[in-house]
Amino acid sequence: MEIINSITQMREKVKHHQILGQTVGFVPTMGYLHEGHASLLAAAKKEADIVVLSVFVNPLQFGENEDLDNYPRDEKRDQTIAQKNGVDYLFMPAIDRMYPTEMGIHLSINQRVGVLCDRTRPGHFQGVITVLTKLFNIVEPTFTYFGMKDAQQVAVVDLLIQQLNFNIQLRMIPTVREADGLAKSSRNVNLSEAERKQAPLIYQSLKHAETAIINGEADAEKVTAAVATKIKAAGGTIDYIEVLTYPELLPITTINQTVIVAVAIKYQRARLIDNVIVNIV
Ligand code: PAJ
Repeated sequence: MEIINSITQMREKVKHHQILGQTVGFVPTMGYLHEGHASLLAAAKKEADIVVLSVFVNPLQFGENEDLDNYPRDEKRDQTIAQKNGVDYLFMPAIDRMYPTEMGIHLSINQRVGVLCDRTRPGHFQGVITVLTKLFNIVEPTFTYFGMKDAQQVAVVDLLIQQLNFNIQLRMIPTVREADGLAKSSRNVNLSEAERKQAPLIYQSLKHAETAIINGEADAEKVTAAVATKIKAAGGTIDYIEVLTYPELLPITTINQTVIVAVAIKYQRARLIDNVIVNIV
């Protein structure tokens, strides 16, 4: 595995593999890697000739009062995990290489937003699409791998790739969970012991909603209300509980197509998100 900090060098490496006719699988992350990230790497390894992993904590996607300073980091550990998971190039650009000057060009997005995380994290997805546009232009991958834990991000990246004509195939990877159902997240280390005990209720509430919908519950409001009742015991404060079409993320009253049931809960030092996608056949 090679560790690369320079954008020019990253481009040269990729060019070399492109000339050889090799495919490139790209997994963008903000580091503090866990099994969720590893499953994206496993999918990349299986499909692509060359695997590129980026670790870059993107300041542009954090709001003013968000956890940028608290965001966990451990470069050495990330390097070991990357190596173990068969990464060919670990791309870790410095902030001043990615943003040498203040951005004078801004990408904005007005579809698949205005709901879920965009409500309480205004500007977040603008930061995400900006850094991904830069990373996609540097790495020029054949395939890119994203986790369904961040389902709105997947929907937004799908739109970015389609509408800005990136020649990249998006792969959506299922959420990896702890044994008790809690979605793995770099932010879980910021939960207190008591919060960690309550947090598995988030997924239990979502599974309950999924079962109800599969069994014929079509009233989106009832589904939301049932999740709200169940999730109270998970502690924290509810940021949102929403039922929307997927991947368009449009409001729906009668569930008659594929939907996402998504929640965000705020704890003392961590905000957790989770979701289920329910396919109606
Ligand atoms: P980060 O939170 O590090 O996540 C990187 C990728 O790992 C995302 O695609 C995310 O959905 C996936 N992931 C996280 N937890 C997962 C889990 N439990 N199971 C499966 N996949 C999981 O998402 C970001 O970084 C950033 O917004 C980024 C796309 C890198 C842009 O800065």
